[in-house]
Amino acid sequence: MATLEDPIDIGGLTVPNRLYRAPLLECAGNGPDAVDALIDDLEPAAASGVGLICQGATIVRGDGGCAAPGMTRVHDPEFTSRLSRLTERIHDHGSRIVLQLEHGGLRSMETWHAEFRRSNPELEQLAVSTPPWQLRALDRLGFLTFEPHVLSTDEVYELAADFGRAAARAVEAGYDGIHLAGANMGIVQQFLSPFYNRREDEFGGSPEARLEFLALVHDEIRERAGDVPLLTKVPAETPAPPVVRRKLSLSDGVELARRLERIGYDAVVPVQTSVVWDMSIIRGEYPARAWENERLQEEYDAAFGGATRKRLVALANRVQSLQYDFEPAWNEDFCRRVRERVSIPVLAEGGIRDRTEMDRLLDSARELDGDGNDDGTGTGATDADPACDMVGMARPFYAEPRLGARLLDGDAASALCDNCNNCTVPQVTGAPGICRTPSVLRKRGELEREGVYD
Ligand SMILES: Cc1cc2nc3c(=O)[nH]c(=O)nc-3n(C[C@H](O)[C@H](O)[C@H](O)COP(=O)(O)O)c2cc1C
Ligand code: SF4
Repeated sequence: MATLEDPIDIGGLTVPNRLYRAPLLECAGNGPDAVDALIDDLEPAAASGVGLICQGATIVRGDGGCAAPGMTRVHDPEFTSRLSRLTERIHDHGSRIVLQLEHGGLRSMETWHAEFRRSNPELEQLAVSTPPWQLRALDRLGFLTFEPHVLSTDEVYELAADFGRAAARAVEAGYDGIHLAGANMGIVQQFLSPFYNRREDEFGGSPEARLEFLALVHDEIRERAGDVPLLTKVPAETPAPPVVRRKLSLSDGVELARRLERIGYDAVVPVQTSVVWDMSIIRGEYPARAWENERLQEEYDAAFGGATRKRLVALANRVQSLQYDFEPAWNEDFCRRVRERVSIPVLAEGGIRDRTEMDRLLDSARELDGDGNDDGTGTGATDADPACDMVGMARPFYAEPRLGARLLDGDAASALCDNCNNCTVPQVTGAPGICRTPSVLRKRGELEREGVYD
């Protein structure tokens, strides 16, 4: 059975261990300091021994498609080539780095960011189909604004080609692989999901046809970027609101993963996610401190289109936090079911917080030695399969950028992140992704002084 320190092969790439940093928005943009900002964000994890760094979502086009302000775009060959400075720094530590590719589609700032819409009136929201009635109702209530441009068949081919072109530029810049943002409510999920996808051409209708966009993206990437390791998040839309009937079940998600392996994907990250932009993928507390931050009120007003709308969004956030309470390793069951059906690596993330839990996910037999623990006193180990082949964390790396040092070769270390989500809301203003909870930062300071990250 594998341990966290064991290497793993993903599509011919050897990753030195089984710990990865899950993608997190860096809000580094494309300006003159963008590459330095990305190095500052991502290098500490590599320096602390993390085997695989998944960079946050980057946008394959030059206009539109950003889920939040300040996302980095990889449409421009000159800019993307400068990212080689980042990939070299990661490689200097023996780690690997993959670039996540994304287009937000209906989940873009064109839909929700009031000031951005005002200053970019010409930008269209790319849509897989006309938005379903539930989203149009949110439009009428004033939460969102939909003026979608439904992609023609030719435009779908062109969008897939943009994913391929971006992948080719990434490989030239030294990235070790490509990761698709397939389960954070962006356009890839919008193609996969029966909630969004009502198309009548070759990209809609049956489950196979809804997967056709990812098949095409695979072919475009293989043609333009070669045999590069290709990973994708895979959604199961189990936590969607009750008014949503057409959605991807857990079994649908398992079937998607199985087909993706057949298409030629090299690894999958099963993630339970809603169909709308809620807290299902970032389970935890209502971020009261972030909403009350005096310095950010004006920027929140600008993003949400005024104080009333801002309060409505904060209220929705509070309701969601009750619905999506933190649950340790909340994707475990989905990962386990996928892993039973595929032979490519399965990466698990979402609420994984300590070394003991990581060991259990990678090697279930240790947990199940007969009496529910792995202390060797049980009546006999079961041969239960591991839930996954790699374990990842996202928010804990905001809280402790060099967290890897505490988890690898260590004893029962736990991440400091307390899932308060204060790091999430400020990103609607383009603020950098950092931990914003003083008690957690104080504890990190103490650990730094003790030298545990060295
Ligand atoms: C602020 C923030 C930004 C995120 N950005 C991305 C992203 O760019 N791409 C993506 O696939 N997931 C993104 N995620 C989801 C994470 O990769 C991860 O699945 C989620 O946070 C659950 O893991 P955790 O409990 O370890 O934080 C983001 C999450 C947070 C909190
Ligand atoms: S603000 Fe800090 S402690 Fe809270 S969820 Fe974000 S990283 Fe974790």
